[in-house]
Amino acid sequence: MAKPVTAFTCTACGAVHKKWAGRCDACGAWNTIVEEAPLSQGPGRALGAAKGRPVALSGLTSSEPPPSRSQSGLSELDRVLGGGLVPGSAILVGGDPGIGKSTLLLQGAAAFARSGLDAIYLSGEEASAQIRMRAERLGLSDAKVRLGAETSLRDILTTLDAERPDVAVIDSIQTLWSDQVEAAPGSVTQVRAAAHELVTFAKRRGVAVILVGHVTKEGQIAGPRVVEHMVDTVLYFEGERGHQFRILRAVKNRFGPADEIGVFEMTGAGLAEVPNPSALFLSERGQPVPGSAVFAGIEGTRPMLTEIQALVAPSTLASPRRTVVGLDSGRVSTILAVLESRCAIPFAGLDVFMNVAGGMRLSEPAADLAIAAALLSAREDTALPAESVLFGEISLSGALRPVAQAENRLKEAQKLGFSQAILPDGQKLEGKGGLRLVPVTDLTGFVGDLFGA
Ligand code: TYD
Ligand code: MG
Repeated sequence: MAKPVTAFTCTACGAVHKKWAGRCDACGAWNTIVEEAPLSQGPGRALGAAKGRPVALSGLTSSEPPPSRSQSGLSELDRVLGGGLVPGSAILVGGDPGIGKSTLLLQGAAAFARSGLDAIYLSGEEASAQIRMRAERLGLSDAKVRLGAETSLRDILTTLDAERPDVAVIDSIQTLWSDQVEAAPGSVTQVRAAAHELVTFAKRRGVAVILVGHVTKEGQIAGPRVVEHMVDTVLYFEGERGHQFRILRAVKNRFGPADEIGVFEMTGAGLAEVPNPSALFLSERGQPVPGSAVFAGIEGTRPMLTEIQALVAPSTLASPRRTVVGLDSGRVSTILAVLESRCAIPFAGLDVFMNVAGGMRLSEPAADLAIAAALLSAREDTALPAESVLFGEISLSGALRPVAQAENRLKEAQKLGFSQAILPDGQKLEGKGGLRLVPVTDLTGFVGDLFGA
């Protein structure tokens, strides 16, 4: 019989190596390679019956109706799921420890139960009595959710198979252990085995399974990326610790758009939905101040206005500070470089700090113009024109590029009472409802218009 082959797997990227090494060749991470127990090797199998025979796509029409989605009634959660929960789907919810995952999913399970689904919440971290106490604090003590405290994968699968709920929450994947695998709970091998079993169970029995996963310091779900590949939907629950806002972001979704976000506010009695986030993220809008620019963005399918803040101060350091929170720091460096070389506005010898109000994180290139405007306004110590929003992508030449969904951005700005929008020229639009449009062709022209340089 062939000798079982031990594999070495990188916990960061999931790459498999023949022998241990300090550094993963595939992703370059250090100290992430661990030994995995060999996969059990059964006797050589003969070819099976033609079970997986392909069928013509056109042959699949109409005999099976599309899966009906179940709404929880928590519209922010339903939105991120792509319009509701698909039966038999596997969902991974990742986030930092303490960010509020257990609270979110207990509330989610209660909401699904309220809308008629059979929901089970299994925790490997808290005893049932503790979950009950949490539920009481959240005002959910009469919710028809069944609770369980369980860490053995075999017991969980037995329970789920006997109960056949519509939706099962497993909090968290790192606490599970399978007696089929010789490794500690939380290790790559265990996490992967548990995820695989649960995902397979979800598909076979039509039970929607929601797995909670803690995220490591580096921002990855502990255990290999492979878990992310196994599930249908990956959601991240994020937010700054000091802020009350929490954002549930779809980073992968087989049943809906990725990049969709749901916004929640943390309160003493749990998470409250924020159906109109623009108003909240801009709530402290008062007199215009230098270094502040309002960006008209799109998050998923929803327009959202956020305030981008910049502070520029003389530096005492040889290489000045560039501190960026909520934006891609590479993007900010690029915009600084474009301002320096195309518009001759130096930032050498100046510390730059950038932040997005409310703990939001922006990744759209359309934020470029607002970032540049905040930087210029901070540097010149001059406030931008009051009641204006900005959007537009900046190319390396300093030209402004049109962006998608401009109409929706403008509509949102108008709805929130802004009177002016600064946007790329070539974005063929008309100002409506009292919103004045200020088209800009390139960054140099923009600087000239704003500061008369
Ligand atoms: P918890 O849901 O336990 O976080 P996680 O499961 O991600 O580790 O929440 C962490 C703490 O925050 C917990 O003590 C409860 C508290 N909390 C609130 O008081 N209100 C809220 O709205 C949320 C989300 C959490
Ligand atoms: Mg928890």
